[in-house]
Parts: sequence; structure tokens; C-alpha cells
Amino acid sequence: METQLRALQQEALDALEQAADSASLEAFRITYLGRKGGRLTAILRQLGSAAPEERPRLGQLANEIKADLERRFDERKQVIGGDTGASGQQIDLSLPGRYLPFGSLHPITQVMEEICAIFEGLGFAVAEGPDVEADYYNFEALNIPQHHPARDMHDTFYVTDSILLRTHTSPMQARIMEKQDPPLRYISPGKVYRCDSDITHTPMFHQVEGFLVDRDVSFADLKGVLTSFSQRMFSSDLALRFRPSFFPFTEPSAEVDIACVICSGKGCRVCKQTGWLEILGSGLIDPAVLTQVGYDPDIYSGFAFGMGVERIAMLKYGIDDIRLYYENDLRFLSQF
Ligand code: DAH
Repeated sequence: METQLRALQQEALDALEQAADSASLEAFRITYLGRKGGRLTAILRQLGSAAPEERPRLGQLANEIKADLERRFDERKQVIGGDTGASGQQIDLSLPGRYLPFGSLHPITQVMEEICAIFEGLGFAVAEGPDVEADYYNFEALNIPQHHPARDMHDTFYVTDSILLRTHTSPMQARIMEKQDPPLRYISPGKVYRCDSDITHTPMFHQVEGFLVDRDVSFADLKGVLTSFSQRMFSSDLALRFRPSFFPFTEPSAEVDIACVICSGKGCRVCKQTGWLEILGSGLIDPAVLTQVGYDPDIYSGFAFGMGVERIAMLKYGIDDIRLYYENDLRFLSQF
């Protein structure tokens, strides 16, 4: 019986060591120390069948083992499961903690920061302008006078007859040129607004405008900067296409396409089988715009470009519905 007791003691000590949470600790208590079905109790019950002269010694031994196990059990409980909170309920210190979810920057913010970082690397400074803008900077100064048909392209939200929510970030060209002399190299990120809403348009979206003015600036400079930007943004061997277009504030004007990032130019649903995706508008700054801010177009020339950040982000991440950006669904946002 003594061997039995010693073996049980050893087994119980091992089991106690293994018990890592309050559930296994409770299982230990029931198995070894339980008053009804516990194994120690079971041995003690057999004490009556031991030789009478052995009984006191065995009884004492059993009680010592029991007291020892109970003391160790209490110690172990202190360590892993013995604490109680203000409610008096048991707190299981071995449970994993509740982690606060990490937030992250909105994908549009991330892409906008990436665009800015690339242009800063090319020597451009960043300047932000007002969302509520004067008609003058949004249109007039950019060679879009009252009643010019180009105003129709913009679906403008007017605040008053002469104040509006800017429809593009191009007004910053005029604001900066008006105050500073060339050479200038700026980009201007920010929110813009148009009364338009479907799967590729939201009433508020983001643009990054860029321009450079100096002596002898040519279309080749524009091509160089935009090629460098696009290749850094998408992939280093990306093909670009400059397609003639029209903007009132540039002459000549071009829209820039990149080889479709989905099919690499073979033709797919995203590029509508053309193999190309439009990413921005650009051109050499119209002499009328330079004259308006007081520059001599015979001395200075420049280029400008403007791109939609949501569109760049859609192409970069393969997103087909612009509204996803603004539904604030964490399942979408947490992927970035
Ligand atoms: N502001 C134009 C738009 O919102 C984009 C643009 C086109 C900007 C050509 C430019 C440019 O600076 O040169 O559609």
C-alpha cells in the first residue's frame, strides 16, 4: 500500500506540473483530491484492510501526501487560475489576451503617399490648396472662361456664382505660379469634387496634380518624368503610350496610357480588349496660362499633368468598383 501511495504521489505531482490552465487544474483536483471519486480517497478507504500495526503509519503517510498535494495545488492555482476580479469571478490568467485591432492607413492615403514620394524623389515639392476654390483658379486662370464648353466636362458643385468645390487639383498651378518665379517643380495632392456617381465615379475623389516650369522645357521632359513615375509605381519595364488629347490649359495635350496591368497588353475585360489603360492627362502648359500669371511664354515653358488617385489604386490593386473605397467595410480596408 505504501508503494501504491508513493506511486500515486509521483503521478499526481507530474499531472500537477502539466496542468496549464484552470480547466486542467480542476480536472487534477477531481482526479486526485476529490472527496468522492478521488484516487487518494480510494486508497485511504482500503486502509481498513491493512495490517493493524501498519495502519497509523500508512494513515499518517496518506495524510501527509494529501496535505502536500493540496498545498501544491493551491500554489499552482495562484499562479494560473486563482485570481478573482472585482466581480469575484475567476480569472484565467492563462487565457490569451484580447488584442486591440491594429488600424492602417486608408488605401487611397497609401497610394497618394506613394505617388508623392516618387515625385519627391524626382525633385518635386508638395503643396496643398483649398478644397473650396474660387471659380477664377479652378477655371478662368486655366484658360477656361465663362461659357467655355470645357466647363461641361466638370459637373461642378457651386457654393456661390464665383465660389465652388474644386473639380480638379489643377488650380494649384495658377496659385503657385502667381506667387513664385520659375524654375518651379511642384505636385499637389488633394480632394476634388464632381457631381457624378457610379461604379467608376464618386462625388469626392482624389487627384495629384504636377507641373514644372523652367527655360527650355519640352515634351521630352514630360515623357521622361511620367515614364519614370509610372515604372516606379507599377513595374520597371512598363510600356507607356502618349495619346493626343485636349485640355484647355495645355497645348499640345496628351492622355497617358500604360500597358494593361492585368493582361500585359494582350487584351482583356479590364482594358476593354485594347491592351491599354488610361492613367492621366498631361501636356505642355498653354502659353495663355503662363501669360495669365505674368510669365513670358517666350522665355519660359512647362509641362503639367493630373491623375486620379482612386483610378491608380484600382489598377494597382485590381479593384473594379470605386465605391468600395468609401463604404468603410473593414473586410475590404484591412487587406491593405
Ligand atoms: N485637370 C484634369 C482633369 O481633372 C487633369 C489634367 C489634365 C491635369 C492635363 C493637367 C493636365 O495638369 O495637363 O481632368
